[in-house]
Amino acid sequence: MNIQAYLDQQRQRVDQFLERSVPPPSVHPHRLYESMRYSLLGGGKRIRPILTIAAAQALGYDHDAMLPFAASLEFVHTYSLIHDDLPAMDDDDFRRGRLTNHKVFGDGMAILAGDALLTMAFELCSLGDGTDGFSAAQQLDIVRELALGSGHQGMVGGQVMDIQAENQEIDLAHLQQIHTFKTGRLIRAAVRIGGIIGKATTPQMQCLTDYSEDIGLAFQIADDVLNMVGTREELGKDAGTDEKRGKQTYPTFFGVEGARQLGEECVQRAIKQLESLDRQADPLRHIATYIMARRH
Ligand code: IPE
Ligand code: IPE
Ligand code: MG
Ligand code: MG
Repeated sequence: MNIQAYLDQQRQRVDQFLERSVPPPSVHPHRLYESMRYSLLGGGKRIRPILTIAAAQALGYDHDAMLPFAASLEFVHTYSLIHDDLPAMDDDDFRRGRLTNHKVFGDGMAILAGDALLTMAFELCSLGDGTDGFSAAQQLDIVRELALGSGHQGMVGGQVMDIQAENQEIDLAHLQQIHTFKTGRLIRAAVRIGGIIGKATTPQMQCLTDYSEDIGLAFQIADDVLNMVGTREELGKDAGTDEKRGKQTYPTFFGVEGARQLGEECVQRAIKQLESLDRQADPLRHIATYIMARRH
């Protein structure tokens, strides 16, 4: 299959939903909506919502009724990026090809826009009038997955470990734990939510979970490599920042080529985890390969 065409098509599907889901800046409080829309609609690969869609498709489900759930991951992810870029965290000036949210709207508004995106993610998961085919139990499971992936045992927990590790000597097991939490858990939630949408059996959910854990690690390894070898033009965000902030990463342990190879091994493992799924899981297989091959 042509994975680039698939990714473009699904990204447009997600983008259309995102565009509709946040009120326009003409609505009060105007500046908040401006700030939320600035970061949410300003580019981004949409890989987490696409993973939700691809996981649901792997189980034979492909209706637009899943879009609020898929989009909820992009809301949480965008909030995490806005906060990650703040001066109190990574202190970055560029994101998705333009100035970071706090550079345009100020720290206070950036914090609040992040908060509003996070809470709105859960609002999206609670929507529904009972006619879209999702049961209340399914929606509750989705809310729980999203919370676990985002919070203290997920992205936020990982971000805590990440800032605590700055300028510290850490070992590889510790680095892997940071990556698992700060990036892996939300990616895991994205795939598992697709599994809930597609009514995965227990063995199917296990395959999807194993797959998601392998691609989650590969995703952050790729991010680390790109931070070392990419340019601002390619990445849409500054390169070389990990070293500047004293962050140890996969390439500092293994070199760029060594890190790439480890990422590639994760990808091959991830694809193997899907052995029992049929051709409908091909997008998931190709996304795994794309994760290490990407240039931004
Ligand atoms: C960047 O995420 C931050 C990480 C968690 C590694 P993405 O690479 O998905 O960023 P966007 O959404 O495409 O901008
Ligand atoms: C971001 O990690 C992880 C988040 C939870 C936002 P990084 O700080 O390594 O990602 P970039 O390089 O800023 O996108
Ligand atoms: Mg960070
Ligand atoms: Mg950062």
